[in-house]
Amino acid sequence: MDVFLLLVLLMSCRIQAVRTQMKLFPETLTVLQGEEARFTCTTSNTQWTIMVWLLNGAAVLTISKTHGLLPSINTNVTAEKSSTSKGDSWQFVLKSTERDNQGQVTCDLQGIDRKTASLFVQEKGSVKVSGKDRLAFKGQSVMFECQAIGWFPKPTLQWQVNDKEVSQSEYNISCEEFGKSLFTVTSNLSMTAAKSSHVDCLASVSALPTPLKSSVRLTVVAEVVQEEDDCTAPLAVTASLSVLLLLLLLLLCICIVLCYRQRRQAKSSPQEAIWSLMLCPLAACLYTVRAKSRCVYQRKTPRRSEEVPEFKYCDARQFLQLSRLTSVCMV
Ligand SMILES: *[C@@H]1O[C@H](CO)[C@@H](O)[C@H](O)[C@H]1NC(C)=O
Ligand SMILES: *[C@@H]1O[C@H](CO)[C@@H](O)[C@H](O)[C@H]1NC(C)=O
Ligand SMILES: *[C@@H]1O[C@H](CO)[C@@H](O)[C@H](O)[C@H]1NC(C)=O
Repeated sequence: MDVFLLLVLLMSCRIQAVRTQMKLFPETLTVLQGEEARFTCTTSNTQWTIMVWLLNGAAVLTISKTHGLLPSINTNVTAEKSSTSKGDSWQFVLKSTERDNQGQVTCDLQGIDRKTASLFVQEKGSVKVSGKDRLAFKGQSVMFECQAIGWFPKPTLQWQVNDKEVSQSEYNISCEEFGKSLFTVTSNLSMTAAKSSHVDCLASVSALPTPLKSSVRLTVVAEVVQEEDDCTAPLAVTASLSVLLLLLLLLLCICIVLCYRQRRQAKSSPQEAIWSLMLCPLAACLYTVRAKSRCVYQRKTPRRSEEVPEFKYCDARQFLQLSRLTSVCMV
């Protein structure tokens, strides 16, 4: 009985040893559709005669130890011999992978062992931020929509503003599956326009070395206007105000001179009459203002109690003075 057990143990040890004489790598491989897929099968067992490669259980390529690669009807596959110090090694090449190729790749060393690896075929779609570059006022809410179309498996979608990743709480993602399991992912990003920036939408699957990107520019308008406001606007206001004051002063001078001259000259030329017609109301107005302020002054600081003037009186006096002045001008 003991001898029998020992024999069984020895047998299993021997099988174990034979099994470890064969290796298939990588164990899993992910490629993009159309790319090459390569798997290597090595063995240190010199006794092998036939190596068969199978794709999802169907034999696609046969290699003979003595004759090498045997002709195959499938032109999409080939194999390359690569010698290693530890026995024989063959690299199986799937030239242009198809989505159908996804599944199991098997290396079968007939009569010795077989090993299986997994192949994943992904598909790269497109990514696009809809619309053109945007213009927005500072503080305005802006929405961007991004579409990643025709991917397999479902792509990861991500937003970046000025190369900084946007928190997932700031955008919505929805996913749809079309046709032969192709995914379309759409996302809306809403943000408050703070400063001009570039907005990127990135889509990727694991086999893609760098994500696909689509960009738009956001120009915030208020920034430009504010910069101008800072210095030019007050300057312009001050300048126009001083010009206005100068003009008023000039008009006042002319008016006074003309009025004065007309009072002295009994007869005036028609030209001077027109001037006085235009300018004297201005002088009258100024006179009124002066009279009024004097009036108020008198009301505030009466010298004697009986002299306290009334507003009615003031107005009446002003009116008299005004009409007197106007008539003087017209003469
Ligand atoms: C080889 O690949 C082409 C497309 O690349 C495909 O149409 C054809 O069916 C493939 N052949 C085999 C035998 O799988
Ligand atoms: C995301 O969707 C929710 C509900 O559908 C909505 O309240 C929210 O405003 C959306 N966010 C964005 C950024 O579109
Ligand atoms: C994005 O916005 C559009 C309309 O602006 C809407 O039809 C769509 O459902 C939104 N998508 C998501 C994922 O919220």
